Amino acid sequence: MSSLRVLRAFSTRANTAKFAANATYPKTVLNTSFYFRSFAIPNLKRAYSTEQTEQKTGGGSSSGGSSGGSSGMLWLGAAGLLGAGVGYYFYSTNNGGILEKTQVPLKPKTIDYQKIYNQIADILEDNDWDDGSNGPVFVRLAWHAAGTYDKVSKTGGSNGATMRFSPESDHGANAGLKFARDKLEPIKQKNPEISYSDLWSLAGVTAIQEMGGPTIPWIPGRKDADAATACSPDGRLPDATKGPSHIRDIFYRMGFDDREIVALVGAHALGRCHPDRSGFDGPWTASPTMFTNSFFTELLGRKWVEKKWKGPKQYIDKETGELMMLPADMALMQDKNFRPWVEKYAKDDELFFKDFAAAFHKLLELGIPRTGEEKVYHFKKTDESS
Ligand code: HEM
Repeated sequence: MSSLRVLRAFSTRANTAKFAANATYPKTVLNTSFYFRSFAIPNLKRAYSTEQTEQKTGGGSSSGGSSGGSSGMLWLGAAGLLGAGVGYYFYSTNNGGILEKTQVPLKPKTIDYQKIYNQIADILEDNDWDDGSNGPVFVRLAWHAAGTYDKVSKTGGSNGATMRFSPESDHGANAGLKFARDKLEPIKQKNPEISYSDLWSLAGVTAIQEMGGPTIPWIPGRKDADAATACSPDGRLPDATKGPSHIRDIFYRMGFDDREIVALVGAHALGRCHPDRSGFDGPWTASPTMFTNSFFTELLGRKWVEKKWKGPKQYIDKETGELMMLPADMALMQDKNFRPWVEKYAKDDELFFKDFAAAFHKLLELGIPRTGEEKVYHFKKTDESS
């Protein structure tokens, strides 16, 4: 059994401890038990939702205004006002004097997002899957839902959860993500009040935190689209066979800079490539269920050679042949403006955690209408909850 297979035998959360005790992986791999909180966004008040109630106070139809007479209508209008009560407000009275609809603020809708976070955390561990965790594919789902954003047309992004619909569900870049969407479906059934778009982005946050990564500030309020017409066009996600200028085109379109791009791709510390999904094969690091800066330490620390096979062009490490890099990953090391960030993050996992948390939060916020008044959540990791 190879070292990677040994690793795969552990499951996500159990993994962290067992691994740290036994393994001889780079120091940074072991040092994952801190949380980054210092960039906390102030907690602000939550937006409330409203519901519309039908309320007819007059006996006639809109054409009945003439038969009721204007003074009768005035009384009806006044009665309607009283009925609505202090603190309520109304609209649409201008219909022959009939008060049609009253908009009544509901009690604040309290969705317990920490509870949903905990439910997602509970389904991360999966010994029948890959390296023992659904975490990496949840991160990929959250990223692919959000990474379609175009800052010029203001289209795409995680709002809408449009990957539920064809053609977006069938885009080549999204191959394999049905698996993640299906895994999350029971959580949606248990919590129908959360939108799919919030659920997917929350799953990405949960996975990163539970796999030892930084705390990611998260804001709910995404709304699901109800038709495939809202789908993003194909080609908005990066092509792994391409180099720096393509990567910049894709991420600049979303509004990221070089530093943020490098930080985000550091998520490739997690998970692996699957020949039946992307066509590529293998994990980037020896600890694919732990969020660390080891993508950068591996990228710089190993000698990478082109893999000889019939599949798409990729690199494997010369020493063991068990780790891999995509041409797009190698581009980060080859480009003179990307490379300094690769070096910084390889040396300083705290800086990487801080930058990653900020960039991932930004990614999940792309294209979501916000007032600035929303409550920002910082979830407790399950091993922190008492
Ligand atoms: C240049 C940009 C990127 C390229 C070309 C790229 C490409 C890929 C490819 C080809 C895979 C393999 C999919 C499979 O076969 O299952 C993959 C997996 C993954 N990507 Fe990326 N990616 C990029 C950026 C990102 C970003 C920004 C994130 C998150 C912030 C991310 C997170 C992941 C994760 C966690 C996996 C593992 C999924 C699993 O294990 O199932 N990637 N990526």
